[in-house]
Amino acid sequence: MYIVVTGAAGFIGSHLTEALLADGHEVVAVDSFTDYYDPALKEENAAAFDCSRLDLAEDDLALDGFDGVDGVFHLAGQPGVRSFGDVFEEYVRRNLLASRRVFEAAAAAGVRVVFASSSSIYGEAEAYPTSEDAEPRPISPYGITKLGCEQLAYAYAQGFGLDVVALRYFTFYGPRQRPDMALARIVDALAREVSFELYGDGLQSRSFTYVADGIEATIAAMQRGASGAVYNVGGGEEATMRDVIATLERVSGRSLDLVEGPAAAGDVRRTSADATRIERDLGWRATTSLDDGLQAQWDWASARVAAP
Ligand SMILES: NC(=O)c1ccc[n+]([C@@H]2O[C@H](COP(=O)([O-])OP(=O)(O)OC[C@H]3O[C@@H](n4cnc5c(N)ncnc54)[C@H](O)[C@@H]3O)[C@@H](O)[C@H]2O)c1
Repeated sequence: MYIVVTGAAGFIGSHLTEALLADGHEVVAVDSFTDYYDPALKEENAAAFDCSRLDLAEDDLALDGFDGVDGVFHLAGQPGVRSFGDVFEEYVRRNLLASRRVFEAAAAAGVRVVFASSSSIYGEAEAYPTSEDAEPRPISPYGITKLGCEQLAYAYAQGFGLDVVALRYFTFYGPRQRPDMALARIVDALAREVSFELYGDGLQSRSFTYVADGIEATIAAMQRGASGAVYNVGGGEEATMRDVIATLERVSGRSLDLVEGPAAAGDVRRTSADATRIERDLGWRATTSLDDGLQAQWDWASARVAAP
């Protein structure tokens, strides 16, 4: 397959690009290397492949220019639920405005898009585990823009025949996890022996998804997902922040210097994925245990900190 990956220098996009290349696909990798976190980390993520600098909110994704693009994995975006205040403009630009352009180019070229949406669209969900049919009611501006992107995709499907599959990712973790995410901050604090600020009481829980499992789901969605479908990508082990801290202390053999801070607006109390639909349609389920996944993330992060 001839594939475009947007957001290819990011945490998930770089793993996806490497997996596609390893499977023998031709990949056009694009990213604008935003400074939401240190762009040097993105250079590191993308070290193993060519990544074109393209800002999808203003540059054209010239799908017609490539001969026979088979699909676009649209992962580029502005992540992070701490999205209140003036930063909202970045969320609108990098999520809504950029996605509109990607969806329009893909619809015109007749190319399938797999779009990286988020469990954040559920907000404080009406039921747990949460199925795709639950009413979306995001509590962060980020979640609102992701839901808006899903609705835009739906509108382009209705109006212009866009072939799109939306994936609602549930807290991906593993090597290269974004440095603003809780597990990455815990692992970094343990490795550097500095303090970690816990937001809230630590009893908030997440359905954690190991990144390699999530990549398999993402590729399966391109190959076999029903056009117009929405799938939860999650359903691995659910754990509280206190649980993962205990596991990481055991894995690292260190104890965390924990500083309690206030809960962050936009952070939901719980996420729990009902993965029935993706298992039925795509034959996918999360298989990596939280212990194994956290060990892999610790091994990666501690080796980086130890490196000269
Ligand atoms: N990490 C998770 O657990 C998670 C959960 C739910 C949804 N998602 C979504 O999955 C996608 C990837 O997440 P991630 O954690 O790898 O984030 P990331 O920030 O590491 O990767 C996103 C990449 O998109 C790029 N980008 C942003 N705006 C762009 C633009 N206008 N043009 C080109 N590139 C642009 C950034 O430079 C970045 O490298 C995002 O859309 C995110 O919202 C992630």
